[in-house]
Amino acid sequence: MNTEKRIPRHVAIIMDGNGRWASLRSKERYEGHAAGVEPVRASLRAAVRQGVEFLTLYAFSTENWGRPAKEVDTLMELLCESVVNETPELQRQGVRIRTIGERNRLSERVREHLAQAEALTAGGKRLTVIVALNYSSRDEITRAMRRIAGRVAAGTLTPEQITEQTIAGALDTAEFPDPDLIIRTSGECRLSNFLLWQASYAEFYFPEVLWPDFTEEDFDRAIEEYARRDRRFGLVK
Ligand code: FPP
Repeated sequence: MNTEKRIPRHVAIIMDGNGRWASLRSKERYEGHAAGVEPVRASLRAAVRQGVEFLTLYAFSTENWGRPAKEVDTLMELLCESVVNETPELQRQGVRIRTIGERNRLSERVREHLAQAEALTAGGKRLTVIVALNYSSRDEITRAMRRIAGRVAAGTLTPEQITEQTIAGALDTAEFPDPDLIIRTSGECRLSNFLLWQASYAEFYFPEVLWPDFTEEDFDRAIEEYARRDRRFGLVK
């Protein structure tokens, strides 16, 4: 964290309320997701302007596969389309794209688009945008535990050698710092299987605004609220 300006180094967003936004307008749910793309652009602009280094977006959870097939398909299509269409602008802005989550269940086409966007934006130095896709924290921790157990079974690691760093290093987020600020829109106050390990010392902000209505000003308000928080990390002042 930049302590002078109190800018969070890593902001993570649970983009919630697309469905409610759509039903309030008698629209289909996928139209709510489509309206959720502009707030992603606005958040990226605000994050770059504010000097945030990492922005994680919860785009599709492992639980989201349980939604109607049409919604799942249109959401995947929208994500693919956004990643492809936005890549040149992201390159221009110095934004690097990365993903977390279990990739194997994503279609070949989605994986190819993501790999291409990651490769094309690899040189971005201003902001890293981490898209959580087919992600859930319990799934991530389970996969990490399997990897660590594999090392123990292979004899390259003893149980006593397992530290918090071993676990953090086996998670999808191994190369990223923990989030400083987690925003969830739509007034819901829960984490829903998002960054459970990484959120240990995060600040939380739950604005009422539905995700499709989220603006650059809303992002700025979240940063202002964060700057007022007193973070002690279990210590005393
Ligand atoms: C939650 O709202 C939102 C999602 C499951 C999808 C989020 C995806 C986007 C905003 C698309 C654009 C993303 C990127 C990264 C380009 P909900 O459907 O659960 O809303 P509800 O709780 O009102 O039903």
